[in-house]
Amino acid sequence: YRNLKIALLGAGSVGSRVAQLLLEHGDELASRVGAGLELVGIAVRDVDAQRDVELPQELYTTDAESLILSADIVIELMGGIEPARTYILQALHSGADVVTGNKALLALHGTELFEAAEQVGAQLYYEAAAGGAIPIIRPLRDSLAGDRVKRILGIVNGTTNFILDRMDVEGDSLESALAIATELGYAESDPTADIEGYDAAQKAAILARLAFHSAVPVEAVHREGITGVTPALVEQARRSGYVVKLLAICERVTDPLTGEEGISARVHPALVSRLHPLAAVHGAKNAVFVEAEAAGDLMFYGAGAGGLETASAVLGDLVSAARRHVAGGPGVAESLTAHLPFVEIGKVLTRY
Ligand code: HSE
Repeated sequence: YRNLKIALLGAGSVGSRVAQLLLEHGDELASRVGAGLELVGIAVRDVDAQRDVELPQELYTTDAESLILSADIVIELMGGIEPARTYILQALHSGADVVTGNKALLALHGTELFEAAEQVGAQLYYEAAAGGAIPIIRPLRDSLAGDRVKRILGIVNGTTNFILDRMDVEGDSLESALAIATELGYAESDPTADIEGYDAAQKAAILARLAFHSAVPVEAVHREGITGVTPALVEQARRSGYVVKLLAICERVTDPLTGEEGISARVHPALVSRLHPLAAVHGAKNAVFVEAEAAGDLMFYGAGAGGLETASAVLGDLVSAARRHVAGGPGVAESLTAHLPFVEIGKVLTRY
């Protein structure tokens, strides 16, 4: 059968695992798709750099643009805004489908990218952009498409959950717990993105867009990190039956004055009852608790970070994209109709 050409942009912790798994399990994945999945190249800045995973040297190239033009499916895992944004737009315009794990890019330029995909009839997949290995994008976009989501409570940053958990369980200070999280490789290269809630705010914008079918600007997500969480506060919460968690909260709200419905999206430390399922999310794990009108409460739990774990989500997207190519049909277009206005509500330490 025919071969689909796959281009990979980036060979960091996730990208190198994606390449490794694709080379190891390519035949098995091909049988699930009904077409071969040929990794034609990996675009990197430096072909000779030291990497975590050893891959065939001839796959590396610095010529991302030629690689993109040769591909049926482009996987963007380089991170950052530029040149990732330009490359994704080039890929879409050349008729390729795109898989990305780039939460910062989607949170900032999601509307532009989804519109570009829609215009050319291509599809943009991004299961890895929020919640790492946890399937949450597709459930929100597809499985719950017929329901009405009321609220999402998410532990979507592993580093801060690890830190708060150590402070709660071991009595660690924030600084020493952060040092361990960095050592274990959970933290972003600049851990401010974790500690100050920027990473969680990007994920909140992505989840809110899907849950409420509205464009949610990341700049408008109320954001407060965990630097104000002291050991005394953690101890006081424990004595009252609560645990402090950094939550991404996205919900439908009603304006008390006009009665109009809108969305609030915010990230801040919250007091979670020890009886709530989110209280049982320990270490660097993530969980997304979804409250839907008909489905009721649902919880999605798992590894929110890690190269191998996140590679699972990327390969799932790759199989979906490849199946779409084989079927030759249009995918599920991302609905961009903003029907709910965005309402910013900032509040510290809400109880759940
Ligand atoms: N630094 C992030 C975290 C990595 O700790 O969750 C995954 O996005």
